[in-house]
Amino acid sequence: MRLGIKGKQVLGVTSIVGTVVVVLSVLHLARLASVSLDESRARAELLANAIYHRAQKVVVAADPLATLRADPGLRSILESSLYSNNVMYAALVDVGGVAVAHADPSLEGQRLPPAGDLRTLLARSRLSQLRAIYASQGQNLEFREPLLLGDKEIGSTRIGVSTLLIRQDLDQSLRPALVTALAALGVSVLVATLLSQLFLRPIHTIRSGLTRLGKGEFGVQLQLDQQDEFGELGTFFNTVSEQLSADRSQMAGQVANLESAVQQLEDAVAIVNARGELLFTNPAMRELLPAAAPGASLDAMLPGPHPLRRLAEETVVSRQSRGPVSAAFGDSGERLVMTHAISDPKGELVGIMLIARNMEYLSEVQSTVRYSRKLAALGRLSAGVAHEVKNPLNAMMIHLELLRQQVSPMTARSSTSSGRAVVVAEPMDRGQALQHVDVIAHEIRRLDEVVQGFLKFTRPEDLKLQPVTLRSLLDEIVPIVRPEAERARVQLIVECDDAPDINGDPAMLRQAFLNLALNACQAMPDGGTLRIHCESARGRRASIAFTDTGVGIKPEHLQRIFDLYFTTKEQGSGIGLSMVYRTVQMHDGEIQVQSTPGAGTTFRVLLPQA
Ligand SMILES: Nc1ncnc2c1ncn2[C@@H]1O[C@H](COP(=O)(O)OP(=O)(O)OP(=O)(O)O)[C@@H](O)[C@H]1O
Ligand SMILES: [Mg+2]
Repeated sequence: MRLGIKGKQVLGVTSIVGTVVVVLSVLHLARLASVSLDESRARAELLANAIYHRAQKVVVAADPLATLRADPGLRSILESSLYSNNVMYAALVDVGGVAVAHADPSLEGQRLPPAGDLRTLLARSRLSQLRAIYASQGQNLEFREPLLLGDKEIGSTRIGVSTLLIRQDLDQSLRPALVTALAALGVSVLVATLLSQLFLRPIHTIRSGLTRLGKGEFGVQLQLDQQDEFGELGTFFNTVSEQLSADRSQMAGQVANLESAVQQLEDAVAIVNARGELLFTNPAMRELLPAAAPGASLDAMLPGPHPLRRLAEETVVSRQSRGPVSAAFGDSGERLVMTHAISDPKGELVGIMLIARNMEYLSEVQSTVRYSRKLAALGRLSAGVAHEVKNPLNAMMIHLELLRQQVSPMTARSSTSSGRAVVVAEPMDRGQALQHVDVIAHEIRRLDEVVQGFLKFTRPEDLKLQPVTLRSLLDEIVPIVRPEAERARVQLIVECDDAPDINGDPAMLRQAFLNLALNACQAMPDGGTLRIHCESARGRRASIAFTDTGVGIKPEHLQRIFDLYFTTKEQGSGIGLSMVYRTVQMHDGEIQVQSTPGAGTTFRVLLPQA
């Protein structure tokens, strides 16, 4: 049985009072026992003296014992012993221990059994006297006095005292003490209960405050108007309660934020405990799994060997995250599923997070990203086009002005002789006028080329994606590049045997790689090395690097090399790298340039693996 503080306090006080009462009672009893034994001794001594004096009076020398036996005075003294408290008998015995005269005449002539000495017991401590009195059977004790005739001992007086009789006496005198003790115990229980009620009231107040806090109540405050430790406890409680309320509201805010974030996630999210019972789902998951109600088991939600269930079971065993793998969800279609282990700070698995990702949504995002990249590429093209359109337009303006002057009927001239301005008509120079027309026609053609080139770039072209082996693609380019390389004494190295296949349009890629290789050869007019190296790259991509030991690119040109019509070559059109850039963009790839003027250049193209 569990004892409360109150019970313990009452029990403690009662046992202290009880112990005190018992100890005091035992001491009191021991004193009474000692007194009672002493009184018995005094009575016995009195009797022995009376017998002795009577014997001195009546005894005769011839047969003293026979005289004493027959003496009625002595007999009446012996019989009076029976009325003495605690005394059982008085007897006169000879030196052999045979009763000469006895309070009980039937015992006369018989040997009296030996008994303990009353004086010996009286010499012992009070507690051992008490023990002797309360020994189970009780015992007879004797007060003995020798009976002398002159110097000769003729027998002895023996007064028998019973411990049983003393015990009865003590029991009687103990009864009121017992009642007092019981009353004291009763009062102590009552007082202890009242005191505990009084002292422990703050504990009840604190307990009820803690219960309210535990139930999640905010701002619980205790009114303990005491100046003692309980008062301090109350103040401390109020501080902790305030802090807890502040933390709880902050946490509630964070949880609400988190919940609303998870609720609005495109990903379907669910959390199950280690036994596979559902704890939480967001709307996307409920849409995917209509059976996903809180408490439902994973087996009920995903019947049969579903990949998500398999991943969850593996996570329970391994305590590691699993996936992503593709899984079908009935009419909802394909999802990418994965599981994450949720562990407590001790590393124990407390739950598993299940995630199903909608790839359609992701591809929408990807296509948006791709679209914005295309816009950026278009921006680069437009910059080059504006530059390219401005030059012919300027030239045309100049030649149109000159032509206008040629075809006008008169040309103003100042006359120096008369001081008056005169207008002189000059004949039109047809040859010069035709020259201007030719220039204007040429510039118009150039403009047309620019517009055609721009249209070629912007016109949407269908990508014909297919798995492409890089080695065979480069094998087709090498024969075209080699004459150019040999002419410029360039060594050509191709390292593409271990490269993964890529997903691409072979015709467009061939053209792009050819442009990069030709540019490299053109950058090494005095010879050098062109190294084409293919390898796997991060994010399931393949890298194709064109490294030359040529003149390099000036830092101020680096920003512009991909602009349409940017060229530093006399015969260059500035279209090559723009084509490369556009092709890489269309393949959802990336192009990087590293160049050191005078040392060489590396163009690295990253394309998705097949
Ligand atoms: N490997 C290279 N080393 C040094 N400079 C380079 C390299 N590749 C390209 N360039 C620089 O980038 C410019 C643009 O190159 P791009 O291929 O677009 O045009 P182009 O080679 O000048 O003419 P074309 O249209 O005939 O190819 C070049 O004029 C050159 O200055
Ligand atoms: Mg080029």
